[in-house]
Amino acid sequence: MTILVTGGAGFIGSNFVLDWFQTSSEPVVNLDALTYAGNRANLASLQADARLSFVHGDICDRALVDSLLATHQPRAIVHFAAESHVDRSIHGPGAFMKTNVDGTFTLLEAARAYWGGLAGDAKAAFRFHHVSTDEVYGSLQPGAPAFTEDHPYEPNSPYSASKAASDHLVRAWHHTYGLPVVTTNCSNNYGPYHFPEKLIPLMIVNALAGKPLPVYGDGQQIRDWLYVGDHCSGIRAVLAGGKLGETYNIGGWNEQANIDIVKIVCGLLDELRPDPAGPYARLITYVTDRPGHDRRYAIDARKIERELGWRPAETFATGIRKTVQWYLANADWVASVQSGAYRDWVSTNYAERA
Ligand code: NAD
Ligand code: DAU
Repeated sequence: MTILVTGGAGFIGSNFVLDWFQTSSEPVVNLDALTYAGNRANLASLQADARLSFVHGDICDRALVDSLLATHQPRAIVHFAAESHVDRSIHGPGAFMKTNVDGTFTLLEAARAYWGGLAGDAKAAFRFHHVSTDEVYGSLQPGAPAFTEDHPYEPNSPYSASKAASDHLVRAWHHTYGLPVVTTNCSNNYGPYHFPEKLIPLMIVNALAGKPLPVYGDGQQIRDWLYVGDHCSGIRAVLAGGKLGETYNIGGWNEQANIDIVKIVCGLLDELRPDPAGPYARLITYVTDRPGHDRRYAIDARKIERELGWRPAETFATGIRKTVQWYLANADWVASVQSGAYRDWVSTNYAERA
């Protein structure tokens, strides 16, 4: 048995592959285009492990995907590959349409052809697991109930619109062709190997470099934060026991305002790597808001708990401490991802917010 993972060199995908081999010896084929967000170093600890095969390629390449399916005969596809950063989707939506919409369409068509050729137990066991986001549901008013799986889709950014489109394709391929799919919609992840363009790792690396900590708008936007290892265990639970054609929300029961997240990160750094120049919170700088910025996300994760017995293992206090400690212990990884292209992105995104 084998599973095909797409985007396994990115933040969540690489955590998923590392986690997978903690609980399973089933081989993994990792198909990843190694965009700016993909990094083979995330899986360096598995370099000599024969259970992991890496394929450098694009999910939009139908011939490649067909040949991988024919060669490896996976029992499941776990689809992480995506353009994932909202700010980049505002600056350049094209890549999001290509990978998130066209790439998912290509994978679905390849999976349909492959699954159609299976028989008996192999056909019955096959799964297409689509990894998606809570952002497809749009923005919540203060005090409104958290997103359930029945919440209407109201995506507001090019990123969330592209993910919503991909969710709809997955749904349609199940209803029309019977493809055995499951979809998970998860809240904001944090943890090791998180690329420092996203809020938490950006704040850690900027603070350690003595740079401003750019908080968009009034900093009162609310997200639900989940430790990445808990997202991985949630995906495993849905892959193993989720009902075909259904979606499962995954979240941390942990709504926090951005400014509070930044202050918690600063407090941990004050404790673990004090700066002689003073508390890190002195670097907090309010900057121009993100256009169309969603005010609040919150996940109701009762369905996955009720049906599959999943709950997060980490609290925010334990997860964020582990995360800050990981960044402090992995300065080489942090330096290696801050390439010229990364610095160009930072200057593009933040210069206009000054
Ligand atoms: P990421 O940006 O860190 O990684 C994406 C990976 O996909 C990279 O390794 C990249 O090289 C690869 N990739 C991009 N385009 C590709 C293509 N055309 N073909 C093959 N590989 C390609 O993303 P992430 O944060 O790890 O997110 C993974 C998935 O989880 C995404 O689908 C995202 O929408 C979803 N998600 C993310 C979060 C979060 O908080 N990060 C939360 C919920 C859902
Ligand atoms: O909700 C799930 C989503 O979470 C995923 O689908 C996305 O792939 C992932 O990137 C994440 O999206 P967000 O836009 O919520 O994450 P980001 O880390 O970019 O921003 C988190 C919040 O912090 C958001 O309200 C914007 C704010 N922010 C972000 C950055 C980068 C700042 O205030 N300053 C910043 O510099």
